[in-house]
Amino acid sequence: MIKKITVNTIQKYKNSHEKFSVLTAYDYSTAKYIDEAGIDIILIGDSLAMVALGYENTNAIGVCEMEIFTKAVARGAKRSLIVTDMPFMSYHTTEAEAIENCGKMIKAGANAVKLEGASDYIIKTITHLTQIGIPVIGHLGFTPQFLNAIGGYNIQGKSFNSTLKILEEAKKLEQAGVFAIVLEMVPEESAQFITENLKIPTISCGAGRYCDAQVLVSDDLLGKFSDFKPKFTRKYGDMKSLILSCAKKYNEDVKNGKFPNEEEIFKLKEEELDQLKLHQREKINQY
Ligand code: KIV
Repeated sequence: MIKKITVNTIQKYKNSHEKFSVLTAYDYSTAKYIDEAGIDIILIGDSLAMVALGYENTNAIGVCEMEIFTKAVARGAKRSLIVTDMPFMSYHTTEAEAIENCGKMIKAGANAVKLEGASDYIIKTITHLTQIGIPVIGHLGFTPQFLNAIGGYNIQGKSFNSTLKILEEAKKLEQAGVFAIVLEMVPEESAQFITENLKIPTISCGAGRYCDAQVLVSDDLLGKFSDFKPKFTRKYGDMKSLILSCAKKYNEDVKNGKFPNEEEIFKLKEEELDQLKLHQREKINQY
């Protein structure tokens, strides 16, 4: 029997100082293999807007799209905890709408949702969500949905004061009931200080080695996305080259008549073939 990772498992990891792993996935088969590989949390990140759908940033994606990809991942993953990123403007207008949209992801198969920021408004929404049984992961430091307001892909928490500000926000999120916090593009020492002052685990996304967990976008890990490479990612494979070489070989084989071969086709039974040949001869004789 597969033992599903839950929010309790994640807290146990923190308590016992055991590191855990987070990877994004957006489709059924990738989720299935990532799950089989033993990754603890699968995140349907809104990064999918850029790496899978080709948008310029993450703000373009909507609730319906996140729902479709959540359903695909949930069909593939059996053990990992499934977390869906709530897209830009899906939890910012009214609290009722935020709850409805988060509920859609849980109905689609997510075990939890991830929300960015820690303004009073977001804290109120998260408090409500956790009170009605929707587990939440917070996201601080560089928050991609605030890209226009931040003014670029800038490192956050670079000074003593800004590190204290992130810690203060993290404490508010902890109080609101989140079970983990992603820290994105934060200097390692600042992230360590924040991590050591929280009861819940932190997940590093370019926040160094001392967070409780690490997250990578699977397309970066697999070497599939090649438009740019953030400093904090590591390429474990070269899917771009694999796709290119397979597609080139296939293209050649089709054009040289080498695909399909004898084993890759269906054949008629002999008597059906004879009939077909007879019919063809009769047709030719008609003209
Ligand atoms: O969208 C995403 O994939 C993320 C992670 C990289 C943390 O938010």
